[in-house]
Amino acid sequence: MIYTDLKSFPEHFLWGASTSAYQFEGASNEEGKGPSVIDMGNHPEGVTDFSVTSNHYYMYKEDVAMMAKMGLKAYRFSIAWSRIYPEGTGEANPKGLAFYNNLINELLKHGIEPIVTMYHFDLPYALELKDGWRNRQTIDAFERYAKTLFEHYGDRVKYWLTINEQNMMILHPGSLGTLDETVENPKKSLYQENHHMLVAQAKVMDLCHRLLPDAKIGPAPNIGTIYPASSKPEDVLAADTYAAIRNWLYLDMAVFGKYNNVAWSYLVENGYEPVIEEGDMEVLAKGKPDFIAFNYYTSQTVGESLNDGNDISHTGDQHELVGEPGAYRGSVNPGLQKTEFGWEIDPVGFRTTLRQIYSRYNLPLIVTENGLGAFDKLEPDGTVDDSYRIEFYKKHIEQIQLAVSDGVDVFGFCPWSAIDLVSTHQGSSKRYGFVYVNREEFDLKDLRRIPKKSFYWYQKLIETNGAVL
Ligand code: BG6
Repeated sequence: MIYTDLKSFPEHFLWGASTSAYQFEGASNEEGKGPSVIDMGNHPEGVTDFSVTSNHYYMYKEDVAMMAKMGLKAYRFSIAWSRIYPEGTGEANPKGLAFYNNLINELLKHGIEPIVTMYHFDLPYALELKDGWRNRQTIDAFERYAKTLFEHYGDRVKYWLTINEQNMMILHPGSLGTLDETVENPKKSLYQENHHMLVAQAKVMDLCHRLLPDAKIGPAPNIGTIYPASSKPEDVLAADTYAAIRNWLYLDMAVFGKYNNVAWSYLVENGYEPVIEEGDMEVLAKGKPDFIAFNYYTSQTVGESLNDGNDISHTGDQHELVGEPGAYRGSVNPGLQKTEFGWEIDPVGFRTTLRQIYSRYNLPLIVTENGLGAFDKLEPDGTVDDSYRIEFYKKHIEQIQLAVSDGVDVFGFCPWSAIDLVSTHQGSSKRYGFVYVNREEFDLKDLRRIPKKSFYWYQKLIETNGAVL
């Protein structure tokens, strides 16, 4: 639909930016922090580990000052569970508690709204040694951890996100610490983990409402619209199936407290269905979100499964081709360009995604990730010209405004990432930030912060509440 007059962005729109603890903080083995599954995971050859990243743990004041200069209204960051509880549960680490306390105060001092992700892939390794999310006790550990966060920071943090991209931890578990290949049926085991995470999330949403009546809490999956490879009814059906498995399973449970019927039938058909214990469905029905946060990088396209041995086409990261025999087959969308890292770029799909989520759940939405990974270059004159990132954001933000004009209630946009950090899959050379961090893959150099061209562009955009695109 084309509008002659677009609606403006809402008055208190949260123009923000995002990071996550293990990708940004560094000090991964310092100040009392315990190891996480990410710290203990394998790193592909040629890619740095997560021990120093951008050194934000020691540079947070400078970083917050930079965010304030950019004009951010909100900053979405994650708390490292194993910095608070090095063993996942048990004794809290006072230095970890103090770090986030100071960070939150620093943000508020600069008028920046903190948006806290409680768990962004980095499960404490001590819990993994006790079977991680396969063990129901991890539900209790998460609840205890959440309670600690609410008690320490709930007087100042109004927006809470439970679990980042739970769907990616299940669908692309490779580098996210959730896959256990030693079990007999790894996929069934993943869906058991999924069930436990869903129960844990519901408990924590409920706890938040009881302890902090003024706070708001929601899930933060990765959601992208799914296109059929053609208008052939079988392809359309396959796209609907994949959307249920990839997107709606997670949000239907968070909002309606029940398994999506198509997703559940897929689990049963494949023998992946989790054990549901007595009382779980009541817990799931009780925990309700106040809003939906979601990460959008791109759409995906699938066609009918032909069951000819060629349906499986996924390997690596979260946005590569997917397929699953008997359900759907990954397909390329010929109309879309790709990033340097092979991800399709689809701004219009962003509007469709916003519309689909809103019309399905009727809850306020906030975008907690969207961005472009690229090999940015620091020029000899000390500048970074990332005009391609500006183009990317212009096109995506235009689509948010169109969605707002469609009547979608969006209250914030927190692109990935505020400042350069280490990519989950491709190291520090794949950059996302508005601010360049002067380091290379293995040479840490001086870690100096240098605003990129996109920094000044975003600053202007925020100043005008999205009027100057
Ligand atoms: C999201 C994650 O999947 O995408 C982030 O929440 C991640 O942690 C981001 O970094 C970009 O992915 P990548 O693999 O390019 O770092």
